[in-house]
Amino acid sequence: MEAAPTILSETRPAKLVVEGVSKRFTSKRNIVQALDNVSLSVAKGEFVCLLGPSGCGKSTLLDIIAGLTKPDEGRVLADGKRVEGPGRQRLVMFQESALFPWLDAFGNVMFGLKLRPDLTNAERRRIASEYLDLVGLEKFKHAHVHELSGGMKQRVALARALAPDPHVLLMDEPFAALDAMTRDQLYDDIQRIWMESRKTIVFVTHNVREAVCLGDRIVLMSPSPGRIAQIIDIPLPRPRDINSPELAAYASKIAAALKGKAVGAAEE
Ligand SMILES: Nc1ncnc2c1ncn2[C@@H]1O[C@H](COP(=O)(O)OP(=O)(O)O)[C@@H](O)[C@H]1O
Ligand SMILES: [Mg+2]
Repeated sequence: MEAAPTILSETRPAKLVVEGVSKRFTSKRNIVQALDNVSLSVAKGEFVCLLGPSGCGKSTLLDIIAGLTKPDEGRVLADGKRVEGPGRQRLVMFQESALFPWLDAFGNVMFGLKLRPDLTNAERRRIASEYLDLVGLEKFKHAHVHELSGGMKQRVALARALAPDPHVLLMDEPFAALDAMTRDQLYDDIQRIWMESRKTIVFVTHNVREAVCLGDRIVLMSPSPGRIAQIIDIPLPRPRDINSPELAAYASKIAAALKGKAVGAAEE
């Protein structure tokens, strides 16, 4: 494997390499340096959490990895190829599910499968059905979006992102708007799905416990300008229970260390 200078202590092949990425936003009054020379490598099959307070550039970095935003400097490589725009191998799931309200759950997942013109319609229907089963919505395939709870909508969004079988799943605070009980269930589900599918996942959060529950590594970001402050390995066994005392103790230690560094990432 070719060793780029930004590769971290990884032995697995890099799925994503972010090299020296900077991004400024210029508005009427000021210039925001959303990202300043950010470099990161994500291994194939790894679950990485980008953690940091609001405004530190997490979403900007995720959008650049997705190919939705272009960096001013630097580049992103996916499987060694420069990312020039969005692609079906890197799909994004947002905090707001952005489902099509005029379609039912099944229709929304079928819409995602438009990214797979190589499949027959019958195959797409079978896959849509399978993924709705996978996220626990077998009984709600034909429910319309307005009939679904917040958690169910995010499950549909997850099925829609997974069904085209992308190599990389990019998730931007996907559970942040949900109540705690719904979220806890989704932590179990996303870990199960990740362990079965071995997708590479980059997951944005501002919640230390969530990051400790999900991440193989936590990439801690700091604001103004947006930078990587620290990378923390999380060696806890899986599946992890967000409510377990071990995880809570681990998260408190990290939160305390962060406070000591005055990075300001808040634990909820
Ligand atoms: N489209 C944009 N136009 C102007 N400023 C932006 C835009 N997107 C993000 N920013 C600014 O860039 C910084 C990083 O934003 P963002 O990546 O959304 O942070 P986070 O996701 O960590 O909260 C913030 O100061 C934000 O206000
Ligand atoms: Mg954000």
